[in-house]
Amino acid sequence: MANLDLSKKATALLGWVDDRFPLTSNIKTHLTEYYAPKNFNFWYYFGALALLVLVMQILTGIFLTMNYKPDADLAFASVEYIMRDVTGGWLIRYMHSTGASMFFVVIYLHMFRGVIYGSYRTPRELIWLFGVGIFLVLMGEAFFGYLLPWGQMSYWGAQVIVNLFSSIPFIGPDVSEWLRGDYLISDATLNRFFAFHVIALPLVLLGLVVSHLIALHEVGSNNPDGVEIKKNKDPVTHVPLDGIPFHPYYTVKDLVGVSVFLIVFSAIIFFAPEMGGYFLEANNFVPADSLKTPAHIAPVWYFTPYYSILRAVPPILNSQFPGVAAMGLSVMVFALLPWLDKGKVKSIRYRGALYKKWLAAFIVSFLILGYLGTVPSTVWGQFGSWLSGADRATVIARIFTVVYFSFFIFMPLYTKRDKTKAVPERVVY
Ligand code: HEM
Repeated sequence: MANLDLSKKATALLGWVDDRFPLTSNIKTHLTEYYAPKNFNFWYYFGALALLVLVMQILTGIFLTMNYKPDADLAFASVEYIMRDVTGGWLIRYMHSTGASMFFVVIYLHMFRGVIYGSYRTPRELIWLFGVGIFLVLMGEAFFGYLLPWGQMSYWGAQVIVNLFSSIPFIGPDVSEWLRGDYLISDATLNRFFAFHVIALPLVLLGLVVSHLIALHEVGSNNPDGVEIKKNKDPVTHVPLDGIPFHPYYTVKDLVGVSVFLIVFSAIIFFAPEMGGYFLEANNFVPADSLKTPAHIAPVWYFTPYYSILRAVPPILNSQFPGVAAMGLSVMVFALLPWLDKGKVKSIRYRGALYKKWLAAFIVSFLILGYLGTVPSTVWGQFGSWLSGADRATVIARIFTVVYFSFFIFMPLYTKRDKTKAVPERVVY
């Protein structure tokens, strides 16, 4: 009897809310009556995982901010204080610093899924463009965050990257001075990077993620077959025949992904939070010193493919600008994919050998450039005199930079010529 009363009261309360706020209708539109293709696979975990990491970064970031001091004289010591004296501080700090790397692991896999299943193609161009926007802001967020512990790598990494802007013709020197707020990286720079990292970019990021999901729910999800499920609807209910409600089916499936992710994430945090220098560099446990340049300055792993491209492109007339422009282009070019891909099919399942070879070449070049960006360009010594003593690693980076860009430049040609297979009417399950 008491139970019946309670459920009546709950229904009445929900009715009261629904008269004032579209709660039930939103739960229906976005969860219980949002029909997602029934053939989602492993690759479809990463959108939900990206949301999880985003929330985790924001929460751990809030707790870090409670004890961190954005002041050039205090910042390094305040991070050490968090690590040694704040209760649970080490865990919060490692969750945040390892979380940054895991964010990029998840995002790269999420983007890769979009590429192999052609999820950027019509009608999902805007989902993709919001995604590229998210990726750019995420890179900015990671860059600003890395300055905050005020270690040697924070300081010199920021010095190198901000200096790159000074190579832009005409306005460059003014732009880099404006970014730093000083003639060199200083307390003023730390303060503005802190402001960008804790409020400005997270706000933009959240706005872009909401737009990403609104665009997704407007057109509906793609799937591993690249079949549009909205083309085959039940004549009576108008529900896509190959669709299943997102809740409970995919909320439960995503819980599996979340559990596995949390196991891997915990293992890294508890056993290898710095990942041998790939997630947090050894030099960053040394306080910033503006008079002592580290012998080897390398960015964190997620920036290294683009950093390699920067180093591979030779200066022209003593200007670094061509390298800087190539680095910028190597990231921005992802935005053009919806218009470069002229293939008759979306998913890699129905593409021909030509496309697959180009994609394989791109993946190899991305990984090799990524590796080369972590090591000094002198790592493999120099070629003999016939190549005028050029660093071997630089020559290899140049070759793979060409392959990287060729994947995009020739895409309209090879996707058109590719011998594709027939796409089924309905999803394969
Ligand atoms: C904070 C970062 C991001 C979050 C939280 C996020 C979240 C999501 C979620 C929840 C989905 C639906 C589930 C799924 O398909 O896996 C999705 C789909 C999608 N996302 Fe993202 N995303 C992010 C970044 C990106 C980026 C950087 C790109 C590409 C540059 C991208 C491209 C896409 C595409 C194309 C889809 C549709 C996939 C399909 O229908 O097959 N996303 N995203």
